[in-house]
Amino acid sequence: DISRPPLVHVKGIPLIKYFAEALEPLQNFTPHPDDLLISTYPKSGTTWISEILDMIYQGGKPENCRRAPIYARVPFLEFRCPGVPSGLESLEETPDPRLIKTHLPLSLLPQSLLDQKIKVIYVARNPKDVAVSYYNFYNMAKVHPDPNTWDIFLENFMAGKVSYGSWYQHVKEWWELTQTHPVLYLFYEDMKENPKREIKKVLEFLGRSLPEETVDIIVEHTSFKKMKENPMANYTTIPTTVMDHDISPFMRKGITGDWKNTFTVAQNEQFDAHYTKMMAGCNLKFRCNL
Ligand code: PPS
Repeated sequence: DISRPPLVHVKGIPLIKYFAEALEPLQNFTPHPDDLLISTYPKSGTTWISEILDMIYQGGKPENCRRAPIYARVPFLEFRCPGVPSGLESLEETPDPRLIKTHLPLSLLPQSLLDQKIKVIYVARNPKDVAVSYYNFYNMAKVHPDPNTWDIFLENFMAGKVSYGSWYQHVKEWWELTQTHPVLYLFYEDMKENPKREIKKVLEFLGRSLPEETVDIIVEHTSFKKMKENPMANYTTIPTTVMDHDISPFMRKGITGDWKNTFTVAQNEQFDAHYTKMMAGCNLKFRCNL
């Protein structure tokens, strides 16, 4: 029983208790030179870009990508949960070249990943859609505390008092890293608008190429509809005591602009004002009203 433990703070960042306990052993993490780090603030398109990358690595063969659930194919660096292999343990079982998922802010990331200039693909999403997706995820994934009401959750999200801390700080610090580190910075909204174009950006960043037909197969296999019905991508292989898909499926809606169904007009105005303040002086632009 994992029973919704309260968040704990590490260097001021609120974290899921189990994941916080994983950080100490991660300090000695030795990356392999061809590791690829998939970094995101939660609920920003992590699973989607992970499936895309595994498809690229598997030469566009969907059957290869059905070999194991997404969290085994793309180990989650800071993952730890009683009774299942940790992220580090999964990584030890993973052949090169490895794909690694993380949601860590830079202050908690193992320094070796930065020192060794490990390639990073970062995906960012409209914070309003992130907040709504995160609220539903808090409800269904019981490693989180109870999210309380939507109104209270949104206040906590804006204040950075949710697991992994401030969305604003996360997107900004990883954006700044693009100046000094090999980071491909993508947006969920661009992936929705034109997945093929974004997959081609990924291929170019990786220095790989695939035939046009293979890229089309990747677009198709990683569509929301296909991933929602794919047990190796949709997290239904996790016990319902940990993730209860009857409360809210992991593959929930997969659209842009769902925030409009949850935010009140007043919440939207407050959010826009707060966003403007928090993002002042940053040249990173989100389409918050999409
Ligand atoms: S996690 O738990 O942080 O790793 O979650 P993450 O995968 O980042 O985000 C989950 C949201 O992404 C949506 N999703 C997709 N959207 C479009 N296309 C595809 N293929 C896709 N796969 C996952 C998923 O539905 C969650 O968003 P919401 O808004 O809740 O539907």
